[in-house]
Amino acid sequence: MKAKITVNKAKSVGTIDDRIYGSFIEHLGRAVYNGIYEPANACADDMGFRADVIELVKKLRVPIVRYPGGNFVSGYNWEDGIGEKSKRPHRMELAWLSVETNEIGVDEFQEWAKRADTDVMMAVNLGTRGPDEARSCLEYCNSDTDTYYANLRRKNGFDKPFGFKVWCLGNEMDGWWQICSKTAEEYGRIATEAAKVMKWVDPTIELVACGSSDMGMPTFGEWERTVLDHTYDYIDYISLHCYYGNKADNTPDFLANAENMDKFIRTVADICDEVQKKKNGTKQINLSFDEWNVWYRTKDEEKTAKRWQIAPHLLEEKYNLEDALLVGCMLMSLQNNCDRVKIACLAQLVNVIAPIMTENGGGAWMQTIFYPYMYASLNGRGDTLLSEVECDTYKTTKGDSVPYLYTSCIDNKNGELTVFSVNRSLDSDMELDILLEGYGDYKLIRHIELYSDNIKEENDKDNQRVYPISREISDTPTVILKKHSWNMLTFKKK
Ligand code: AHR
Repeated sequence: MKAKITVNKAKSVGTIDDRIYGSFIEHLGRAVYNGIYEPANACADDMGFRADVIELVKKLRVPIVRYPGGNFVSGYNWEDGIGEKSKRPHRMELAWLSVETNEIGVDEFQEWAKRADTDVMMAVNLGTRGPDEARSCLEYCNSDTDTYYANLRRKNGFDKPFGFKVWCLGNEMDGWWQICSKTAEEYGRIATEAAKVMKWVDPTIELVACGSSDMGMPTFGEWERTVLDHTYDYIDYISLHCYYGNKADNTPDFLANAENMDKFIRTVADICDEVQKKKNGTKQINLSFDEWNVWYRTKDEEKTAKRWQIAPHLLEEKYNLEDALLVGCMLMSLQNNCDRVKIACLAQLVNVIAPIMTENGGGAWMQTIFYPYMYASLNGRGDTLLSEVECDTYKTTKGDSVPYLYTSCIDNKNGELTVFSVNRSLDSDMELDILLEGYGDYKLIRHIELYSDNIKEENDKDNQRVYPISREISDTPTVILKKHSWNMLTFKKK
């Protein structure tokens, strides 16, 4: 099969906000306890954080990590996780039916983030709690005033404010599963009042309002319109969440979800513009795609798991090559929509639907999805160029026509261009020509490929069966993309 990509220097989509390579750590399963934190592990540092996990997070160059949830945040008392550890309560955690020991809270997490070279994207509880706790938490984290919560932080050993810039106003409040879920009107009101007082406490923060839990929600669209109608003046971003799955075991359909993600983004961006117009507003509301991934094998696991365990094995999805291909495409979708998506979080980072896995008392290892995430984060910074694709298409069971090639092209602004591509064909290699209009003499200097003959191949703690290789560069202008492979091509000015 032949394919062609044309990009033109004059046709840029926009500059990528590095925060689209963010991730997420929730108090859920073994994400925090035995994930980032395991004092008894041989590689634990002076605070009990796993140094091996920090090393892997650094390899991914994660710019921002959403915390502490997720569904968890809607029942969370942030005060439980500060100050003297021995005084912290054990709580029944209702989102995941586990016991939360509160050994880790915002005091420790901000320190972990520093050690992992990342920023914290903090979420407040608008489920069981509201504006009062949100403003207290913000004062504790960000204020340098001589007032109660700022002084409490000092008393707990942190003289300097943590300085978290981005704050989420609750989580998935449209979802029936959410602790104290709300109608769009109810949420719109509480989010507005929380946003108002939070921006009075710290006008430099950016706020994310909850959009729909996914595009399939019955209230999708109307939820966004109503919430934005209430919150428009006070917020900066609206959230999108999306998890794809392959329960039907139909790989072509599964991989076509990249186009569904594009559609989701454009639909929400259009709603933001519609509300802005209605309000005669000057502010553009941008998008925070703060939960995205492949997740279907371990959904609802908490319902059948033994209740009230500490750090149970929950949502430990095992990823294969086909998942890595879709994750690669989803990253390209974020890049291609960088004019509106300014923040995105791969959900999640460690053990729970995650690229990084740990063994209790043992080592850490990389799932298949680690690799497209790492290469996108390291090499997908700069300006996205509009990619015009010429390629054969296939039909999904829904009747959509989908090109075999999914791609993005980034001008790295350092004399290099990076093209990410997935060949979605299950049986044909692709002969790909890339035309870089307006760039003069560029040559291919690197071709990284993620491939296995078996598209269902997985990694585990003892074997990295799916890992990237460097392909030899030939002198011909045509690049071969293997069937069902992910690829990164680097071009450099001669
Ligand atoms: O990431 C796992 C869960 O998925 C989050 O807690 C929730 O926000 C979403 O439903």
